[in-house]
Amino acid sequence: MNRKQFLKTCGVALVGLPFASAILTSCQSIYYASFKTIKNKIVVPLSEFEIVKKTSTTYRDFVMVNTALQDFPICLYRTEGSNYIASLMKCTHRGCELNVGGGMYSCPCHGSEFDTKGKVLEGPADQDLKTFKTTIDDENIYIELF
Ligand code: FES
Repeated sequence: MNRKQFLKTCGVALVGLPFASAILTSCQSIYYASFKTIKNKIVVPLSEFEIVKKTSTTYRDFVMVNTALQDFPICLYRTEGSNYIASLMKCTHRGCELNVGGGMYSCPCHGSEFDTKGKVLEGPADQDLKTFKTTIDDENIYIELF
């Protein structure tokens, strides 16, 4: 490889590095929580947010709840002060399933964006996401479906 080829190869690698970093950053793994259903409530153990390692415990920002009671998954987002917001992952524009990452929901179909409370950030969607009331006790989060 001569000097010119070497510089060209390095240049391509350096140009691609920020893109690879952005892709890896946006690829947070989706964790599907275990849960049970009691009447009209989905019960998610608080421990589903924990990531337990040998020496420490960290917490997931969100977990996904995939119940047959809804056509789309529900994203259960943990906000400051340990409040939980449950949003249906269905875009209010034309019904595509949303992606979650980077502290927001985004629609792969036409680009709508929503914050973690389900509020529209960017159209074409003009309605907020469907959200469900949540309550919490010492062990569980309860998502009220009806
Ligand atoms: S279906 Fe989501 S933006 Fe159109």
